[in-house]
Amino acid sequence: MKTYAIYSLKGGVGKTAAAVNLAYEAAAAGKHVLLWDLDPQGAASWYLGVDSSPEMSAKRIVSGKEALGRHVQATEHDRLSVLPGDRGYRDWDAQIHAAKQPRKVLESLIEPFSESYSVLVLDCPPGIGALATSVLRAADRVLVPTVPTPLSLRALDEVLEHVDDKKVGKTRVTPFFSMADRRRKMHREMIESPPDIMKKAPKTFIDYSTHVEQMGAHRAPVRAFAPRSRAAAQYKALYKEIR
Ligand SMILES: Nc1ncnc2c1ncn2[C@@H]1O[C@H](COP(=O)(O)OP(=O)(O)OP(=O)(O)O)[C@@H](O)[C@H]1O
Ligand SMILES: [Mg+2]
Repeated sequence: MKTYAIYSLKGGVGKTAAAVNLAYEAAAAGKHVLLWDLDPQGAASWYLGVDSSPEMSAKRIVSGKEALGRHVQATEHDRLSVLPGDRGYRDWDAQIHAAKQPRKVLESLIEPFSESYSVLVLDCPPGIGALATSVLRAADRVLVPTVPTPLSLRALDEVLEHVDDKKVGKTRVTPFFSMADRRRKMHREMIESPPDIMKKAPKTFIDYSTHVEQMGAHRAPVRAFAPRSRAAAQYKALYKEIR
């Protein structure tokens, strides 16, 4: 099982949009995919037409008392299942911090899923606490959506420093440009001559797109309702580069 985390220190940068669309692309490519929505807001689950699971608690999950598998729900999309987000996820950081081996918490929790799935996508809430550290350790690849602005790059820098500090270097941190608006000079310039920190980034970037915005109205990944859109093509190309 290959585990992708979609993570950023920053909120509202397109993590959930990427998680849902990349999970969909992996499933469309024939993989058996589980998306674990780690965000208490449950947006990824909602986009996939799945309602949050009643009474999940980070405490029970971290302590190993919760049989996670029974909360997995199928979606209407072939080979794509969801472990829904829930309000009970609000105190992930505190619960993981209190665990015996905080950094390994997520690794142990996801291990059993490797029997049934070949791809696991983790949609993470923003922030840089114990959950983030555990995610950085558990994921084979950490995708960081980065808006082409100085502030976003600064946040990426902070993530990379955190990775160094916590010695979770085995994971591959892969930033990619997200919500790029080529009408804006700053975005254009940054995409055309990317800073060093984006050197390892995939060639594909995700444009600012009304189709991505419409995911909320359709409660579906872009390609499911706008297969010929540029956004659908970009998520497909991004998946090809990172798979
Ligand atoms: N490429 C895009 N083009 C246009 N709008 C986008 C794009 N990506 C995301 N959005 C919109 O921006 C908002 C935030 O996106 P999203 O929820 O994916 O970000 P996030 O990083 O997961 O946010 P949070 O930190 O709250 O979890 C949403 O309203 C979404 O529809
Ligand atoms: Mg999100």
